[in-house]
Amino acid sequence: MRTIKPRNLLLLTACTLSAFFSRTGESAQPPLAIKAGLSAKKMPASVAFGKVTSALSALLPEFSVNLDKSLASSMKKRRDFAWKIVAKVFAPIDVTSSAFTGTIPTWQTWYGEEDFQDIYAAYHKAKATDPATGLGLLKVKNLNRTLSSKNLGKTLKQFERFKKVKGLGTNPLPAPGTGFVTYSPGMIEHMLKSATNIAKCNPDDYPADQKPSTAKNTWGLCLKAEFPKDGVMIKTRWAKLASGIKTYGTTATDMETMWNKSSVGQFASSGTTTPSTSAMYTVTDENGAVWGLEGMHISTKDIRLWTWVSIWWSNSPDSDYGADRPSTVAAALPSLANYKMCIASDFVEKDSDPSSHYRSSDKTKSLADAIDKVKSLANGSQWCANPYLETSFSRSNCVGCHQGAGVNFDVSATTQNRVNGIPDFVYGFDNIKEAIETENAK
Ligand code: HEC
Repeated sequence: MRTIKPRNLLLLTACTLSAFFSRTGESAQPPLAIKAGLSAKKMPASVAFGKVTSALSALLPEFSVNLDKSLASSMKKRRDFAWKIVAKVFAPIDVTSSAFTGTIPTWQTWYGEEDFQDIYAAYHKAKATDPATGLGLLKVKNLNRTLSSKNLGKTLKQFERFKKVKGLGTNPLPAPGTGFVTYSPGMIEHMLKSATNIAKCNPDDYPADQKPSTAKNTWGLCLKAEFPKDGVMIKTRWAKLASGIKTYGTTATDMETMWNKSSVGQFASSGTTTPSTSAMYTVTDENGAVWGLEGMHISTKDIRLWTWVSIWWSNSPDSDYGADRPSTVAAALPSLANYKMCIASDFVEKDSDPSSHYRSSDKTKSLADAIDKVKSLANGSQWCANPYLETSFSRSNCVGCHQGAGVNFDVSATTQNRVNGIPDFVYGFDNIKEAIETENAK
């Protein structure tokens, strides 16, 4: 069982954090046991913010040449790369102190939106101008706040937006999912660097057909530059285990059903189950309630259009989109053996025969079938959607909808419909902008 109890962590000012991203090699250490028995009355928990010292692609030299083209033109390269990304962001970081000995997945030592607010406030108050030192103004992350029932139970803003989408027929919208967004240190540093640009950004200044003035910055016109290669953004959806976890199938047949259920695709749940805590990644909130990670998006700026990786929990994890999961993923965190995955890296599917890599082996034949089915439906676009996150808008490929970030919310877009971008595909930009404006007004 891999459970982090917030009250089991103390203020770890002198804790040892071996940042995974400085490690070489692919083998992850087995997670250490978390020592139990701490009093709930102890101080709030904090850990040092983790680092990403280099882009993921730089650590994977076999992928680094023309990465965007090679990912777009090979489903196998794309999926292999995505599994490596999953293992990297979940790689255990060792934390040792008198109060807590154990490991924390790397991404959970990164910055939430509330951390950005704190850091920008400190940055602004100190009248600091160097974003690198800016990061140092807030040294520890308050894990109690991240793992609180309030944070885990916060409705994801996407579901608020879904409610306002008109003209999609009579299929009911799913109950809103809850969870939070996390950014890598490289992204936060870049937001500090771009704070002035963000504050004065007016999307109306950039019509969709206006060519950017420099080829180096196509997608982040309201930022100082596009996000750096060590930019990683994460979105998570959680549910209380005690309430049961909805199950979704993603076989070739399920994909066809999803596709045809509405004009933008809707996954229908096949039932509800209560997985054991070893069969799902779980955390425990301040009241002792156990929450399971249902779905998670991981986007990395390894390529200009970002990689769009998504994992979802499954009660039949070894078939279709889980059939090619390498053992390195569960080595990073054992419960990840229960998750399936998809990735998009571009608008267009440039692999002429994307299922070919999986057809000859019995183990991956169900993956080939699902890929074939999607190819026959997707009209030349790449596909990736998470049953727990995209839910009722699942014909999508992530990047199609995200190109509208900062400007609009087009749930059916899967092809490129603008030549520029305002916040480099980041929908959370609106929240970041608000945080900056609120602080600047003080
Ligand atoms: C229909 C539009 C839409 C689609 C499709 C979509 N997203 Fe998003 N995404 C959003 C919105 C809106 C937000 C911000 C609001 C929120 O927090 O829910 C968001 C937030 C995110 C975030 C947090 C960072 C940010 O941009 O704020 C990540 C990471 C992300 N999405 C990845 C993905 C991935 C990966 C896929 C495909 C598997 C995907 N998205 C598909 C609309 C979409």
